[in-house]
Amino acid sequence: MGAAQRIAVLGAGGFLGSHIVPALRAALPWAIDAVDVNLGKLAPGDDGVHRIAARLDEPGLIDEITGRCPTVISLTALCNPALYSTRPLDVIDANYTELLPLVKACAARGNRLIHFSTCEVYGRRALDAAGQPTEEMNEDSSGFFLGPVHRERWTYACAKQLLERVIWAHGQHGNLAFTIIRPFNVIGPRMDFLPGIDGEGVPRVLASFMNALLRGQPLPLVDGGQQRRTFISVHDFVDAIVRVVERPGVCRGEILNLGNPANDVTIRALGEALAGAFAAFDPDAPAARFESLSAEALYGPGYDDTALRIPDIGKARRLLHWSPQTSLAAMLPEIIADYVARYRPLLDNAANDDCDAAARRASGG
Ligand code: UGA
Repeated sequence: MGAAQRIAVLGAGGFLGSHIVPALRAALPWAIDAVDVNLGKLAPGDDGVHRIAARLDEPGLIDEITGRCPTVISLTALCNPALYSTRPLDVIDANYTELLPLVKACAARGNRLIHFSTCEVYGRRALDAAGQPTEEMNEDSSGFFLGPVHRERWTYACAKQLLERVIWAHGQHGNLAFTIIRPFNVIGPRMDFLPGIDGEGVPRVLASFMNALLRGQPLPLVDGGQQRRTFISVHDFVDAIVRVVERPGVCRGEILNLGNPANDVTIRALGEALAGAFAAFDPDAPAARFESLSAEALYGPGYDDTALRIPDIGKARRLLHWSPQTSLAAMLPEIIADYVARYRPLLDNAANDDCDAAARRASGG
């Protein structure tokens, strides 16, 4: 890599950002502008990381960042499916409207833009360009299969797809040096939130299952949990992102799937693996139970689902000389240890508060 640079990571305080920032610092001699409304998940203590607690639409911020940082990684998003049909307008704004000025600023100033899109753009399942079912989702040959408009689940995919097309056009018809990343179900420590503790609503499936295990409640299986996902370790994923940053030439103008096709499991199988690993971690924990429920019961109307989602990662392997290493079973102990360390004390406090309130009610206090 060339001389010391400065790189901006927008969304640095989220799950992915909190892993990407230290990995970039370890690999490259670059200072980082780490921007987020909430930087809580990003470990403090590195002088090379300039923490900026701000919303992206704060006046002047995009100008300041793109003026100072030749490379910008954009991660900010509302990316939780429970929001797509309950707050669709916020989802469209966060994933499209508020990012348009960033794309335009990068195009105008000549910044390199590494933008995080989503595997959701492929929709309900993999199809080729003629609409015939295929096994894997491919960046350059798959068609997109979204549901009808009243299935609001697809607001997110649609907003993400439109921004991809804007970025592509700036690269094709202008001079924008971009790379678009499509992550496929990255999991690891610090993912999402626990409802009632540090967020509200339904988190993504890993955190939802950890919430159930930590509270001794049944793991909720939407429609019996027969949907399939391929899960990639955040460490394998971040390794690929560092390689993208290090390879501006070969990655320019490319869209890259990043996932682990070897970890293709049903959601029920994920739950069973997690429950088994949790029992090994905490032999005193109550035996895990499962509860099948309708998507409408968990998410309300407008939800829709992807039955099968397997990435073709041939291009990422070729361009990055990378390949994901970690099996699902190997990822789980670290994830469980992180959730237990972060949440068990908070859950114990919440339970004590509930007991105190019940005792006050019983004594008429
Ligand atoms: C989500 C996001 O929409 C994508 O942007 C993101 O790229 C992707 O996660 C990801 O993590 O990469 P999805 O895979 O549907 O997509 O997210 P989850 O909420 O984790 O759901 C996975 C599956 O588990 C779905 O079939 C869902 O119905 C099911 N589920 C979820 C349960 O059975 N129980 C739960 O408690 C939660």
